[in-house]
Amino acid sequence: MRFHVLTLFPDMIENSMNTSITGRALEKGDISLNAVNIRDFTKEKHGHVDDYPYGGGAGMVMQAEPIYLAYKSIEEDIIKNTGKKPRVIYTTPTGKVFNQKMAKEFAMEEDLVFLCGHYEGVDERVLEMIVDDNVSIGDYVLTGGELPALVMMDAVSRLVDNVLHNSESAKDESFSNNMLEYPQYTRPYEFMGKTVPDVLLSGDHKKVDEWRYEQSLKRTRERRPDLLE
Ligand code: ADE
Repeated sequence: MRFHVLTLFPDMIENSMNTSITGRALEKGDISLNAVNIRDFTKEKHGHVDDYPYGGGAGMVMQAEPIYLAYKSIEEDIIKNTGKKPRVIYTTPTGKVFNQKMAKEFAMEEDLVFLCGHYEGVDERVLEMIVDDNVSIGDYVLTGGELPALVMMDAVSRLVDNVLHNSESAKDESFSNNMLEYPQYTRPYEFMGKTVPDVLLSGDHKKVDEWRYEQSLKRTRERRPDLLE
């Protein structure tokens, strides 16, 4: 998986992706990251990438040209490699809400391009020209699209072959069958008077599986009944 991020804050993207499991995956070459600074593509002498909105209103709008040029600077190489236009995801609270199913779909691509918006928005014309998917990470508004892009890259990375070790397996986890994951326990057996459910020490795998299934169902009913509908 090759990630490309069009952003005004490439350091934020790089610093976060270089940490923990995604950092290890970058080092091993199972994923790659190319953070492109949109500001490098402005032709204005003061380096502006935004301007006042037509029609008035609060805030500034990111201009089309620097974004278009930043995208074009990577598109040709990608097409040379894969023979097709890459999938471009625009992070926006007006998009479809991200979920595990979308993460799986994105993980099948060879290249993913994220466009991170800022200020009050992005000139609609460049979005019409380059964007395939408008995606939100939830019904709240952030100051920019960098955290949403990082959230999505993290969720996608762990589905890419070899990124997770066997012990970190993505098989049994929450949402894998529209259910939340069951509770987990580790040593010691007793912690401040609270003990581990005895079935987990029984050595009876069938019983353990049944208990975990029931716990998943109970937890999903209580916390996320919408998933069971
Ligand atoms: N940009 C600002 N808020 C956002 C959100 N919730 N999801 C995606 N992009 C955003």
